[in-house]
Amino acid sequence: MNFPVTRMRRLRKSEAMRSLVRETHLRPSQLIDGIFICEGEGIRGPVSSMPGVFNLSIDEAVKEAEECARLGIGGLLLFGIPDAKDERGTGAYATDGITQRALRALKQNRALDSLILIADVCLCEYTSHGHCGLVARDGDHYTIQNDESLDLLAKTAVSLAEAGADIVAPSDMMDGRIAAMREAMDDAGQHDTPIMSYAAKFASAFYGPFREAAGSAPQFGDRRSYQMDGANLREAMREIELDIQEGADMLLMKPAGPYLDVIREARTRFDLPLGAYQVSGEYAMLHAAFERGWLDRDRAMLESLQSIRRAGADFIITYFAKDAAKLLG
Ligand code: PBG
Repeated sequence: MNFPVTRMRRLRKSEAMRSLVRETHLRPSQLIDGIFICEGEGIRGPVSSMPGVFNLSIDEAVKEAEECARLGIGGLLLFGIPDAKDERGTGAYATDGITQRALRALKQNRALDSLILIADVCLCEYTSHGHCGLVARDGDHYTIQNDESLDLLAKTAVSLAEAGADIVAPSDMMDGRIAAMREAMDDAGQHDTPIMSYAAKFASAFYGPFREAAGSAPQFGDRRSYQMDGANLREAMREIELDIQEGADMLLMKPAGPYLDVIREARTRFDLPLGAYQVSGEYAMLHAAFERGWLDRDRAMLESLQSIRRAGADFIITYFAKDAAKLLG
């Protein structure tokens, strides 16, 4: 049945018609805002490569969270920026660590009950060398130790769950971490706290601005011995499969925009809730174009988010969460 009997434009005639046949929907509740929490009081330190994103002291983070809740945003992903770092990332699993204290402050506030608080589990913000696991050095050579790091990562997950995280989200990419965390959390009585695994996290240039925000750039080498090679889709599916076997409750894909095909493939193969992370570089790139007047801000922002949903993500972690929720609300 071809033209002129079939005319695709009939269903595009008006916004009401387009809205009726729209396949993908974007709601504030599907968006999660990433926030960076630092020591001090009354602090809102701008991140130069991420306009509109700040390092927030806990009191400021509470205000930010209240705004997110008012806008109907689904949740927050918390990153801690400690004052002191050491070789073993002690601040990541300290009972009074920066993220633990932030979680307690946020959980106390009833106005925030509608927000799911997700805690990133990784050592890189807390280690002096900036790697996501323990480092063994031998002269000029170094290795990021896998098995030796698991215990510390599991301790971090337990400590964040005990501080009130609704979900823990390991982003370190060590092998076996999901099983180690599940076991440690169950032993600690945290059997009801879900694990959202950054199952397929690629070694990406698009994390650049985040590392400025979190001060977590590796002091030597790079993350390619643990994060995935961006060329590999089948390997990403194996990573996901293993994480599901180890006990992951939800999956996260990262970055989002440059890896939409990976998101689609994961959606087709797996039935777990699936999120995607529109990372700092994706945000920075769009903002650079907005500043030059090269792209329409609102439309480009929503289109970038819609394409991630269309690829198959149930929810999106994005630094645009507030701006997008304002438009969608
Ligand atoms: C920590 C972590 C990173 C991001 C999220 N968790 C940085 C990295 O792996 O270097 C990046 C998020 C972003 O770029 O917005 N491991």
